[in-house]
Amino acid sequence: MENQNINEIYSSAMDEIGKSSTSEKLQELKIKFLAKKSVLMSLLSALGSLPPEERKEMGQKLNETKAKIAKAIEEKEAELRKAELEKKLESEQIDISLPSKRVELGGQNPFYVVKDEITDIFLNMGFEVADGPEVETDLYNFELLNIPKDHPARDMQDTFYISDSVLLRTHTSPVQAHTMQAREGKPIRIICPGKTYRRDDDDATHSHQFAQIEGLVIDKDINIGHLKATLELFAKKMFGEKREIRLRPSYFPFTEPSVEVDITCANCDGKGCSMCKGTGYIEILGGGMVHPNVLKMNGYDPDVYSGFAFGIGIERVAILRYGIDDIRKFYQNDIRFLRQYRKKA
Ligand code: PHE
Repeated sequence: MENQNINEIYSSAMDEIGKSSTSEKLQELKIKFLAKKSVLMSLLSALGSLPPEERKEMGQKLNETKAKIAKAIEEKEAELRKAELEKKLESEQIDISLPSKRVELGGQNPFYVVKDEITDIFLNMGFEVADGPEVETDLYNFELLNIPKDHPARDMQDTFYISDSVLLRTHTSPVQAHTMQAREGKPIRIICPGKTYRRDDDDATHSHQFAQIEGLVIDKDINIGHLKATLELFAKKMFGEKREIRLRPSYFPFTEPSVEVDITCANCDGKGCSMCKGTGYIEILGGGMVHPNVLKMNGYDPDVYSGFAFGIGIERVAILRYGIDDIRKFYQNDIRFLRQYRKKA
């Protein structure tokens, strides 16, 4: 009778295990057939009341049945886990045959191409790169460069004011003052590429934001011949061996004498054409010998030291170099413009 009962329990357990399709259901079956209060377990605990000869056989049978049911549940659990995993893998499959999103390749902006080229030319001559803030004080942008308040030269350099004495720098020349003060009277040979700002109506040749490369050399016995030779070498490296330069007298409050530097027009080789407006020359930069007042104000004795400085407009050089017709193209980020300057692999 009891044997039959056990067989029945076994077959109904196997039946239910076979039919279950979730691990929750299997948990229920575990409780139903194997927990302390299950029929099987109550039979096991009642073994003691059986006569000894039956006890052994019955005990064995009960334990075997219990083990078989536990094993069947375990196997079914593994089977379900595997099926669940397969289902998950199936649903999360990525279709690698789908075409990916196109990544548009631009090109290095010619502004940066030229900036790097100019920088390299001066690094090869032994210059170092110095840096300075774009948000500048009136003191560094004007006063320490010999442009006192009410100086008429300020008119040409109106800019964006943060407060009465803080502004966006109008040129990279304040880096001259910063560098002189930091070097405390020692020789200097630096360039500083950077952004500059002026109040300007934007058109094909003007922009409220542009960039310059400042140059500053200070040492004993520096004369205007050094300035000319340095800029001549720069012009030839940048625009070709055939280019000549010309120095014209000019005026900047922070240099004395001051010069404007022109190069022979690459378009007509100096003969005169529409690009150089018939003059044969194109202006590329301003420079001069550092004014004694500027040396003094920034910690250098003008009786011992002399120096030269220059400021090159980066966009101007890029425009000449690549024949670009509008300064605004540098900032518009038009992919068709940039693509023309993509380096060939
Ligand atoms: N800072 C001047 C400008 O922006 C250029 C310059 C630099 C002139 C250094 C002389 C020396 O116009």
